[in-house]
Amino acid sequence: MSKCRICGGPVREFFDFGRQPVSDVFPAPSDIGTEHFYRLAVGFCSTCTMVQQSEEVSRDHMFPADYPYRSSGSALMRQHFEQVARHMLATELTGPDPFYVEIGCNDGIMLSSVRAAGIRHLGVDPAEDAAKVASAAGSRVHVGFFEESTAREIRKSEGPARLIFSANTISHIAYIDSVFAGVGALLAPGGVFVFEDRYLGDIVNHTYFDQIYDEHFYLFSVRSVQAMAEVFGFELVDVEHVPVHGGTMRYTTARAGERTPTEAVAQWLAKEHESRLSEPATYDSFATRVTTNCKELKSMLAALQAEGKRVVGYGATCKSATVTNYCRIGPGLIPFVCDSTQEKQHRLTPGSHIPIRPSEAFSDPYPDYAVLFAWNHAEEIMAKEKEFKASGGRWILYVPDVHVV
Ligand code: SAH
Ligand code: TMP
Ligand code: ZN
Repeated sequence: MSKCRICGGPVREFFDFGRQPVSDVFPAPSDIGTEHFYRLAVGFCSTCTMVQQSEEVSRDHMFPADYPYRSSGSALMRQHFEQVARHMLATELTGPDPFYVEIGCNDGIMLSSVRAAGIRHLGVDPAEDAAKVASAAGSRVHVGFFEESTAREIRKSEGPARLIFSANTISHIAYIDSVFAGVGALLAPGGVFVFEDRYLGDIVNHTYFDQIYDEHFYLFSVRSVQAMAEVFGFELVDVEHVPVHGGTMRYTTARAGERTPTEAVAQWLAKEHESRLSEPATYDSFATRVTTNCKELKSMLAALQAEGKRVVGYGATCKSATVTNYCRIGPGLIPFVCDSTQEKQHRLTPGSHIPIRPSEAFSDPYPDYAVLFAWNHAEEIMAKEKEFKASGGRWILYVPDVHVV
């Protein structure tokens, strides 16, 4: 049993995906053999309820300068962050010269809206190539990891931040004590630290097991974030569920005692209690469903191959690293995966080494079946590729169960 990174309590492992690669590093064929692997396993802290990984992958392995993920590749996410920015501009970024800091700004998807409103801002992200996209557009970015020392430097040179925002990043940071210490040092009195991440309730309820990969070190719930905030002198004061990335929760935290928690916090805590989200049995049955989905997916692919059908993959997501490596699906079953991200094209999927081709390869000619690894963008992708289905093609999904549409 390992020790909880939040409270030091005992963590009981409930699923072991075995040897897995870093999920967002796409090797060129000549890089095979140099990839970094680790044991991907998740457990549940019986004291503070935080779900977390047993092994930490070093941040330099996960977020190198050429980290290929680009947030702005999805129209849905661009729209989402425009909305979040509008909301923040109306509620938190008010008064004289509010300063906005964003942890994990990537290519500036959210920063651009804040900048356009004339707000003083600073993004922090170690992914230099992605950060360059943001700065080329005119946003200010500090290239580096946010931690206590970075926060203190920013505070010294720029003054306190009214809002510290972060999307899909806080759950990636195992050394979260340093993040909260930094937030404590940088946040103006009365300011808020708002972050959104994949929601554990959705992962468990819909068997979204592929949301478990190296970067998602923590899988947050309302209860565990409330406990975490308390450990670090903060308080969870608001939550909002948003339907992106298969289910996301936005958490608003403030220094303890500064704001009154909204009704939504109590409502979500009650909902989690009712659905037994913090009970060990919930994780045992989740584990059984994961094993079933993986077995069924593998046998479906083998059966289609035996029938002579052509199957390809769609979306070289981080999620697909967990699926292909755990189910041992390689180029023998899926000859290529298409992806619109230039940085991933002509490379291989991590660990499973399936070639990645540009989106145009999909219709050249259409396959019989396509495994939709980017299921969180299903609507956008299915609309873009409507000809595929019209011409008799079928999508294979493996969550919440294995099915064809
Ligand atoms: N916020 C964007 C990007 C999410 S990807 C979105 O929601 O789409 C996660 C980003 O966090 C990556 O760009 C990665 O480089 C960055 N990151 C990882 N650890 C970080 C840290 N300690 N401080 C700041 N950024 C970090
Ligand atoms: P994500 O699930 O981490 O957001 O990654 C989605 C991946 O899917 C990313 O590599 C880009 C790719 N993608 C396409 O190839 N076509 C699309 O239309 C969309 C929306 C995403
Ligand atoms: Zn704990």
